[in-house]
Amino acid sequence: MQQAREWIKNASKIAVLTGAGISAESGVPTFRGDQGLWKQYKPEELATPEAFLRDPRLVWEWYDWRRHSIAKALPNPGHKALVELECQKRYFTLITQNVDGLHDRAGSGRILKLHGDIWRLRCLDCRADWPDRRVPLPKLPPHCRCGGMARPGVVWFGEPLPDGMWMEAEHAAAAAEVLLVIGTSAVVYPAASLVTLARAAKARIIEINIEETPISGEVDCSLRGPSGEILPKLVA
Ligand code: OAD
Repeated sequence: MQQAREWIKNASKIAVLTGAGISAESGVPTFRGDQGLWKQYKPEELATPEAFLRDPRLVWEWYDWRRHSIAKALPNPGHKALVELECQKRYFTLITQNVDGLHDRAGSGRILKLHGDIWRLRCLDCRADWPDRRVPLPKLPPHCRCGGMARPGVVWFGEPLPDGMWMEAEHAAAAAEVLLVIGTSAVVYPAASLVTLARAAKARIIEINIEETPISGEVDCSLRGPSGEILPKLVA
């Protein structure tokens, strides 16, 4: 912990990659593990473009339910510690795989949302993209003003990441002196490849996770425990 604090204190360029684990203490379920969403639901039935085309209402019911549970959640001390770190550093990039919007609600500035945002909708016809925080949505599936059907503003399996955002994430990871990898199982690509990229560019990698992950053996420091407890100590 002491060594990690030193690295963070001395770095001017910091990049952070977060995953579902950072929101676990806010009560938002993660994807993998015994209590994970993918234990109860099949990704290919709910989180692919094919699933949506097959049964848009079913997919929307699942997203509406997730929006409902996330709406009740509050940012936790882990999210807040990252806001504090952002204030301390000249160059700070927050990259998240989360779609829950809790980094926004904690007060983080610019966030590279690699997997999109559950609080945005996108029209399949005219491609318009707009925020919608209503819970529950009044009609499923929701529609755009143009009459086209809307989809959740998230990235599904098999889809490319949002334009330009991936390149920015790569630049930030390659330029960082320290990369913090928080609450991610680091098995979903391309997000997980940011760790390899940062390592090749000689960044110090600090992992925060309650359990070991495939990258634990490759990082400079692996802090084991809940991010809501570790991050405030690391950043203070
Ligand atoms: P996962 O559910 O795969 O992993 C969550 C990680 O958080 C695990 O490694 C847990 O050990 C860890 N964790 C749980 N509670 C924690 C806590 N309090 N503090 C720190 N760590 C904790 O979630 P992601 O890695 O984010 O993609 O998953 C990546 C992507 O896979 C998601 O964005 C989603 C999913 O399928 C799509 O839907 C496209």
